[in-house]
Amino acid sequence: MSREVFREDLLVDQHVMITGGSRGIGFGIARRLAEKGANLTLIARTQDDLDEASHQLEKEHDVRTLGLSADVREYETLEETVRRAADELGPINHLICGAAGNFPAAASEMSSNAFASVVDIDLNGTFNTCRATYEHFAKENSTITAISATHGEEAIPFQSHACAAKAGIESLVRTLSVEWADDDIRVNAVQPGPIDNTKGMKRLAPDEGTRDKLTETLPAGRLGTKRDVADLILYLISPAASFVTGAVVPVDGGLKQIGTTQLF
Ligand code: COA
Repeated sequence: MSREVFREDLLVDQHVMITGGSRGIGFGIARRLAEKGANLTLIARTQDDLDEASHQLEKEHDVRTLGLSADVREYETLEETVRRAADELGPINHLICGAAGNFPAAASEMSSNAFASVVDIDLNGTFNTCRATYEHFAKENSTITAISATHGEEAIPFQSHACAAKAGIESLVRTLSVEWADDDIRVNAVQPGPIDNTKGMKRLAPDEGTRDKLTETLPAGRLGTKRDVADLILYLISPAASFVTGAVVPVDGGLKQIGTTQLF
């Protein structure tokens, strides 16, 4: 049975900008949105990755793509990048903030700079991206979706930086959803759990045994896919979710209900 429920032309003539869009979950989201006709601006640090991603999307779908290199920590560059995207592909209908950094480290051994680096990419980077895009939103059925994680509401050992950053992102989402409601911008966050074929997953389950145990432990009985995340985002940015704002929605196969520490 096909699980397709979204219409083919859902995002035709819509401009969607995705930070962290050249690889991993971000690229999975980009591909799914391109299937629905979105023109895409991908922002990431490495131009080669962006070129490869844009090329693949344009080969697979009849959409326009831009791959622009910027670090979400550098506000002025980001502002210039967003302006260029709006000049080339028009006002931004939907923004997806997916740029993130992570590594496992005990708080007692992590340097102040290491903690700050993750907070700077994840939390400050999300604010910078939303702020830089504010002037360029279509401001008619516009949306922001931040990629958080179950970290935002959980205590996860060796992830103090990411837990703090994601909790901050979720707080920012709630406040922006109120401040920018009059601009017709809905603001939500999603919390992916263990998603297959990602760097995070390779860190969490580097071998088959760990992977099988993890799969058995998850209430859903399977790992998530990039499409699971992308489909939640398709819903959140679609008119079907026009009354949904300030929401933080898990797409985690039930992980948050049992607690991530159950996986260790
Ligand atoms: N363990 C402990 N500390 C680490 C580390 C690790 N694995 N990797 C980086 N750090 C520390 C560095 O030592 C440095 O601190 P110091 O100056 O006190 O030595 C600090 O973090 C910043 O590292 P730097 O190499 O300058 O990186 P950056 O600021 O350019 O980027 C990362 C920070 C590491 C988060 C970034 O490289 C990254 O995002 N990597 C992984 C991407 C990823 O996993 N994406 C998926 C997200 S879920």
